[in-house]
Amino acid sequence: MLLTVHTLDDLRAATDRLGGSGTIALVPTMGALHEGHLTLVRAARAKADHVAVSIFVNPRQFGPNEDLDAYPRQLARDAALLETEGVALLWAPAPDIVYPAGYATNISVAGVSEGLCGGDRPGHFDGVATVVCKLFNQVRPDMAFFGEKDWQQLAVIRRMARDLDLTRPHVDAIHGVAIVREADGLAMSSRNAYLTPDQRCAGAALPRSMKQAIARLMQGEPSNTVLEDLRGELTSAGFGSIDYAELRRGDDLGPADSAMADSRLFVAARIGGTRLIDNMPLT
Ligand code: PAJ
Repeated sequence: MLLTVHTLDDLRAATDRLGGSGTIALVPTMGALHEGHLTLVRAARAKADHVAVSIFVNPRQFGPNEDLDAYPRQLARDAALLETEGVALLWAPAPDIVYPAGYATNISVAGVSEGLCGGDRPGHFDGVATVVCKLFNQVRPDMAFFGEKDWQQLAVIRRMARDLDLTRPHVDAIHGVAIVREADGLAMSSRNAYLTPDQRCAGAALPRSMKQAIARLMQGEPSNTVLEDLRGELTSAGFGSIDYAELRRGDDLGPADSAMADSRLFVAARIGGTRLIDNMPLT
């Protein structure tokens, strides 16, 4: 049976009870759950005795002109999905529980938060690091699961967990789960719901063009030409602007070239008002 809790006292009672009968895995989310989130839940169930999912649309990670108000909220539907997945606990706090009046603390992870999405969305990763640290302290899980779709977010959280001695979960207990894609290759995202049918169709050009770019890079073509062509293809497919198309090292997001073993391609591009992101290894 899924137990949904909205207060810290109820959460503590629930985690004490669950913790007494085994390990707890936390899957932090902002809700509007799709198959990508549910894949994290299944991975968590395979590793832990109990799964806790948090649903919290975190205001601190949205910029002033971003979609905080429009972000889909569908708690009853999400809870029903989690129930069928065998989740034990749903932590769904209101904003003033997470950030009560007078709240003043910010966590900022230098280095990995800079560039890529951190460059386009100033303060975004401070908001993510802050809320994830709070969620870890609230739920006190043995392990936590995050998607590789948000590769930079995963790198930020791993760095933070190591730096702040978040020993339970510690860095080895932060699990990354491979990107779950639609049949046409588009990475699943709660924001795909914003796309019109035409935009949704055009969105498939993102993973397709990235794969083609990777094939050319692997054949030794120079990255500046390949990345320039990738930008051109996305524009022709209907993307309005390309925020970035870059090669970075997978582990610490440092600069990379196509010859490096750990090199990944990272792209963020906008279609209508919707920002889509993706990343792929150079293999
Ligand atoms: P949200 O976008 O709801 O995503 C929750 C988790 O699901 C993240 O770890 C994300 O990487 C993962 N996820 C989303 N789509 C995925 C896909 N197609 N394949 C694999 N994993 C996918 O990311 C956040 O929420 C927030 O920033 C959060 C970490 C909860 C902090 O507020």
